[in-house]
Parts: sequence; structure tokens; C-alpha cells
Amino acid sequence: MHDLRFVIPGQDINREDFASSVPDFNQRSEIMKTEMGYKCAITKIVSLTEKEKLFQLRIIDSRERNIFRFKPGQFLMLELPGYGEVPISISSSNSNHEFLELCIRKAGHVTSALFTVGEGTHVAIRGPFGSAFPMDEMTGNNILLIAGGLGIAPLRAPLFWINEHRDRFLNVHVLYGVKDPSQLLFTDQFDEWEIINQIILHSIVERAENGWNGKTGIITDLFSDVSIEQSKTYAIVCGPPVMFKVVCRYLDRIGIPMNRMFVSLERRMHCGMGKCCRCMVGSTFTCIDGPVFDYWSVMNLKEAI
Ligand SMILES: Cc1cc2nc3c(=O)[nH]c(=O)nc-3n(C[C@H](O)[C@H](O)[C@H](O)COP(=O)(O)OP(=O)(O)OC[C@H]3O[C@@H](n4cnc5c(N)ncnc54)[C@H](O)[C@@H]3O)c2cc1C
Ligand code: FES
Repeated sequence: MHDLRFVIPGQDINREDFASSVPDFNQRSEIMKTEMGYKCAITKIVSLTEKEKLFQLRIIDSRERNIFRFKPGQFLMLELPGYGEVPISISSSNSNHEFLELCIRKAGHVTSALFTVGEGTHVAIRGPFGSAFPMDEMTGNNILLIAGGLGIAPLRAPLFWINEHRDRFLNVHVLYGVKDPSQLLFTDQFDEWEIINQIILHSIVERAENGWNGKTGIITDLFSDVSIEQSKTYAIVCGPPVMFKVVCRYLDRIGIPMNRMFVSLERRMHCGMGKCCRCMVGSTFTCIDGPVFDYWSVMNLKEAI
């Protein structure tokens, strides 16, 4: 495995300031030099469903482990040597400096190869990349976390954050929709969060199977279970574009301001750092200006959804 490190002493690897600045190609080339690659060991693999596994990673070098920091909503580029790199959302708590968790669906070339490796395998990560959910800005408000299918993966980091700072928020509801009950992820953890911290999970499936006695329907059917105070609510919506379009339209209709709804946009990515243009929507780089956008920005991005 080649060494991916590009280190300039004294440079800050956190690209948040950059992500919100005016596009400047010279500045972007500087970022490539300051990005780091980290060698990791896969320390644990948990099979969640037929198609999804949770990978726990540990950065091998303790010095590197100590400097790696991320914000909820950011992603990293995960390399399986010999197969390639894929962008994956960080799905663990950003206060956990020992391990990173990635919830990965088997989709194609690289992710299928990942499903064949065992614990102890070495991989590499670059990042963290992209914009984050504005957790501080949301303080003092009700929070709706809305996930469709694998959208629960990017939602998990802000969920951990809210759980760890629960007293800063009013009511917190998670609305989670999947096709059938076998696709529900992390339900044990939700039970725990509900009991300890009153983070209330509302789940719904499109097709009831295996003795499911919960709700059946689509995700917007869950809104009738929650009373929403428009002027004091923020929403994070993650899932396929068709789902967040419907959900954000609903929230807009009931009066939640568009700049208080946040989505994570997924595009094909290659470099993750504004170099290859693979992820561009118009003149916007999904990898550095996103993946987290407020709904107002998404509506103004032609062909974003
Ligand atoms: C910011 C970001 C965060 C992501 N987070 C996660 C995550 O937490 N967990 C997870 O399982 N996946 C996540 N993805 C999607 C993941 O990157 C793709 O599934 C992966 O790149 C597929 O690579 P592959 O080599 O296995 O498949 P390929 O052989 O490259 O492709 C297989 C199929 O997947 C589709 N595909 C490939 N890349 C993407 C993409 N970026 N978005 C949508 N469809 C794609 C292809 O069109 C093709 O149909 C994320 C993507 C982005 C951009
Ligand atoms: S992934 Fe290369 S520019 Fe965004």
C-alpha cells in the first residue's frame, strides 16, 4: 500500500474555512498538499443486513490518530489497496478519537471487495472532507432527523452529537423509513437513545414482513406523529434525492424555513478535494462546498436533485 501522506508542517488540515470561501483554484491546489492520508486497520466488522456492514477502523499511527478530527456530516475517501477509493460518510461520534465507524452498502467494485475482507485488513483513508451539519447553529431548537434507507449512515454522526449534548436541544425526533423491516439499521441503539436521552424514533416500512407490527407507508406518513413548532425547528434530511425532495417540500409547505433544512448530496467523486471536477453540479463542487447544503442552496443548484 502506498503512503498517501502529504504533510506541510504547521498547516491546518481542517478545510471548513475553505469550503465556505469564494472559489479560488490556486487555493484549492494548496489544499491538496495539506490533505493527509492515514493508514488504518479494520478492527471490527458487523454484518447489519445482507447488503450493509459496519466497519470499525483504527488509525494505526497514534500521533496521526490524535490529530484526526472531523465534524458530523463530513466524509472520507476510503481506499482498499488494489481496488480503489470510495467516498463514505463518517458514521460515528466525533468525540470518539480511538475508532471511526463506516456503514457501507455493497454497491459495486470497491464496496463488494470490502465485503470479502476480514478484521485486521489494512486500508487507507483521506480526509475528512466537505461541509458539516451546523450543530452549534441548531442549539436551542427542536430537531427533526429524517432518514430514508441508507440515509441513516450520514445521520448517525449528528445523532451521536445530539445525544452527547442533549441538554442543548428541545425535542428531538428521528423519522426513519425503509422498504421492509429487514433493512432497519441500528434499532438497538435507538432503543437506548430513547430511554436515556428521549431521542424519539418513529419508523415506517413500505412493505410489512416478518411479523412487523409497526407503521406501514412512506416516510411523510410519519409527520402526523410529530407536532412541529415551525419557528423553532431544524431538520436534517438524508436519503435518496427522490425522498428528500418530497420531505423538504412537505417541510417547506408547513413553514419550516429552507435555510433550516439540511441535506447531504451524493455525487460520484474521485479526488474529494476540488481537483477532478467529477462531483460538480453547475459551478459547485459537491466535495468541498457540500456534501451538506441547506435546502435553499440545493434549490438554487440547477440539476442538484
Ligand atoms: C459524500 C458521499 C458519502 C457517501 N456515504 C456513503 C456511506 O456512508 N455508505 C455507503 O455505503 N455509501 C456511501 N456513499 C456512496 C458510495 O460512495 C458508493 O456506493 C461507492 O462509491 C460505490 O463504489 P463501488 O466501487 O463499490 O461501486 P461502482 O462499481 O463504482 O458502482 C456501482 C453502482 O453504484 C453507483 N454509484 C457509485 N458511486 C456512487 C455515488 N457516489 N452515489 C450514488 N451511487 C453511486 C454506480 O452508479 C453504480 O450503479 C457516499 C457517497 C458520497 C458521495
Ligand atoms: S470529487 Fe474531485 S472535484 Fe469533487
